[in-house]
Amino acid sequence: MNVLDAEFVLGFMRMANDGWEQGWHERNGGNLSYRIKPEEVNSVKEQFVPKQWEPIGTTVPKLANEYFLVTGSGKYFRNILIKPEDSVCIIELDDKGENYRIVWGLVNGKRPTSELPSHLMNHEVKMSVSSGRHHVIYHAHPTNVIALTFVLPLKDEVFTRELWEMATECPVVFPDGIGVVPWMVPGGREIAAATSELMKQYDVAIWAHHGMFASGEDFDLTFGLMHTVEKSAEILVKTLSMRPDKLQTITPQNFRDLAVDFKVSLPEKFLYEK
Ligand code: 13P
Ligand code: ZN
Repeated sequence: MNVLDAEFVLGFMRMANDGWEQGWHERNGGNLSYRIKPEEVNSVKEQFVPKQWEPIGTTVPKLANEYFLVTGSGKYFRNILIKPEDSVCIIELDDKGENYRIVWGLVNGKRPTSELPSHLMNHEVKMSVSSGRHHVIYHAHPTNVIALTFVLPLKDEVFTRELWEMATECPVVFPDGIGVVPWMVPGGREIAAATSELMKQYDVAIWAHHGMFASGEDFDLTFGLMHTVEKSAEILVKTLSMRPDKLQTITPQNFRDLAVDFKVSLPEKFLYEK
């Protein structure tokens, strides 16, 4: 099968374009990766032409021999639909999880995203904690979440609670909460390690003054998660812009009642008294 006809590739491109249309991908901002299922690899692998091995910049032994569809470094999300072969690539990892090689795409050169260490370390953690169900890692630059990192304390508890309060569906969509990484230099192993540590407990990690990472089982769930968090952040930005305090809100007991009816467990550390 032609790579560009495969359903997982079409789903990837649609999600990337949806993110562009949301305004989360100025210039080359953001990156997306998908851990390809073995049957999907088999359906397109006759088209693979392996390039040379390159170091990942970190080690992900649990992902040895896995294949990923990833956006290219410096590539624009707004171009993915119209020139996918130039914008994205499929990579294969070696049997130690130390090196990768491009087997398809990026036809005009360039490398996979500079955030490859973060993507792969997140994939490694999420593959383990989700028993293999998570396949998508998404990094975007959503405006309102970034704005909040200048005015809220950079604490998991505060971001989770404030965003839960802004929309009743939030604790149902991300019941485990949200992690926050303080400002760090992007692109390296250190920020990747800090993010993947948070991904052991959360599906969402915010990078202060930079953006957000979301993990999920498929394109719909992962895009929907990013969208829900950013929508909630937008409501909070609007609320804070009107006045610094709230006249009324969803209370800790309201959340406990919601948890019972919606059959989610909400950690008490987020239901503190203010
Ligand atoms: P890349 O173009 O290398 O993917 O980088 C974009 C980005 O958002 C870095 O954090
Ligand atoms: Zn970024």
